[in-house]
Amino acid sequence: MSGERMIVQEVSPRDGLQIEPTWVPTEEKIALIDSLSELGFSRIEAGSFVSPKAIPALRDGAEVFSRIARKPGVVYVALIPNLQGAQRALQAGADELNLVMSASQAHNRANMRMRCEESLSAFSGIVEMTAQAKQTRQAAVSLNGTVATAFGCPFEGRIAEDRVLSLVRQYREMGIQGITLADTTGMANPRQVATLVKQVLDIVPAAALTLHFHNTRGLGLVNVMAAYEAGARRFDASLGGLGGCPFAPGASGNVCTEDLVNLCHETGIETGIDLPALIRLSRKLPALLGHDVPSQVAKAGLATELHPVPVRAAAA
Ligand code: COA
Ligand code: ZN
Repeated sequence: MSGERMIVQEVSPRDGLQIEPTWVPTEEKIALIDSLSELGFSRIEAGSFVSPKAIPALRDGAEVFSRIARKPGVVYVALIPNLQGAQRALQAGADELNLVMSASQAHNRANMRMRCEESLSAFSGIVEMTAQAKQTRQAAVSLNGTVATAFGCPFEGRIAEDRVLSLVRQYREMGIQGITLADTTGMANPRQVATLVKQVLDIVPAAALTLHFHNTRGLGLVNVMAAYEAGARRFDASLGGLGGCPFAPGASGNVCTEDLVNLCHETGIETGIDLPALIRLSRKLPALLGHDVPSQVAKAGLATELHPVPVRAAAA
């Protein structure tokens, strides 16, 4: 083996389910997360603590977090928009809070109903609150800051690199160690990704940087490889290629986890993830959600699964 390794964070229980029109019962969410926990992921975004009016599909986040079977060594992450969300997530026992705001004012307003400055000020309150919680209750929660629409906004278009870099610096100065750059509606291209990732890696160590791509325009895996070659090592992906932000017009699924893991394993990058089992789990999604999912390898199977030679060809 080459010794190359990628950390794949599974986000289907959050990004995947948040946009599904069909209600997925709490038991089914827990069963999905518990199955994912057995497949070798070190990080799973298991839900969000947002307004139940904004995202009704994930309104049972507290119950989900408190009832999943926690696998030692797996970090269970919760997406958070504000202080109320952070308080609820801490109570429910989330290991990490993923604080999300958009680089663009227009998408932050549409998604979070706040100006970016309001989001940042809420985040500094969360940093303070979690530091106090650590002192008083030994609740060791870690913080990650996401810059959504980092590569483009469906309302404002291309986002200036300086804007993204400045937000990354502000997160780090605030004490938010982990950083995610999110391509919320799949507007990134691989050259743009390489340029931005190299600059962000001057500020953030590779171990603390995550890239979150959507495959909206078919560039998801190409963007992953461009970021990987530029030095990034952590990537979000969603089982079946589910996902999308309901407050971004034209949003569609994340990079598909089994397609990404297949790409890694085919190119000699280790993930520690059980790909055949992942494919089996993905194949259950259409029955759970009532529709087909965008995954490629779940349909085609692995390239190593060869087919019997047709009888006529064998005889020739
Ligand atoms: N968890 C649960 N309820 C929350 C909440 C949270 N984190 N934050 C606010 N609420 C509730 C308030 O208690 C209030 O309830 P009430 O109407 O019963 O009194 C209601 O939501 C409105 O609160 P307010 O602070 O005025 O929020 P808002 O309507 O301005 O919306 C957000 C702001 C951030 C809460 C909302 O836009 C949101 O949750 N956005 C997240 C969207 C999302 O998850 N997108 C996909 C992921 S990127
Ligand atoms: Zn997303």
